[in-house]
Amino acid sequence: MSIKLTWLGHSAFNLEIDGHAVVVDPFLTGNPLAPFAADAIHPELILLSHAHGDHLGDTVSIAKRTGAGVVSNFEICSWLQKQGVAATHGQNSGGIGDYDFMTVKSTIAFHSSSFSDGSYGGSPGGFIVTAAASGLRMYYAGDTALFSDMQLYGDEGIDVAFLPIGDFFTMGPADSLRAIQFIRPRYVVPMHYNTFPPIVQDVSHWAQRVTNETNATPIVLDPGGSFTVE
Ligand code: NI
Ligand code: MN
Repeated sequence: MSIKLTWLGHSAFNLEIDGHAVVVDPFLTGNPLAPFAADAIHPELILLSHAHGDHLGDTVSIAKRTGAGVVSNFEICSWLQKQGVAATHGQNSGGIGDYDFMTVKSTIAFHSSSFSDGSYGGSPGGFIVTAAASGLRMYYAGDTALFSDMQLYGDEGIDVAFLPIGDFFTMGPADSLRAIQFIRPRYVVPMHYNTFPPIVQDVSHWAQRVTNETNATPIVLDPGGSFTVE
């Protein structure tokens, strides 16, 4: 029993959770770091943190092609239904959904959430995913600033944290170190960096600081690269 995570560039990840395929924020088309096209993904479930195009990405086409359900907020799920996505799970902040092989808690994020036409995309969020069989737990922060209630997520026993480090649109490297100290994960995976010029970061330097200043192990992946947590 394990979780295999594969970085698809930006904030997109394939997760193999105790043998079940999940994709998070599947932005592949138009993502300069994407290692392959959206057609190569075959998830059972899609997790979507907020409505911005660099997260919503290929959600509609993947969901329609595969029949995968989408776990997101109520407003995004209502919008997806209008696009013809049948299976949606519109949670809201603090709520937990049970999807058999995992539970998903919707967490808060300090950010914004709108569709490309400017319409309201509900509250932006993140997820705490708990694998049913292995008990492994992940915190995917989504796009967010640092906030002190991350300490409460740390109390839940996080094995892997996914944190934005790109700065400008989200927290940057320095605040991500504070976040790691709050969340206390075994492993931390950086995201939302190097995709576009405003969010270019020296990830090696970040990883060195994580090693020196926190108890977490940094997992820096190349696009398409994988790491398995047991
Ligand atoms: Ni965003
Ligand atoms: Mn973003």
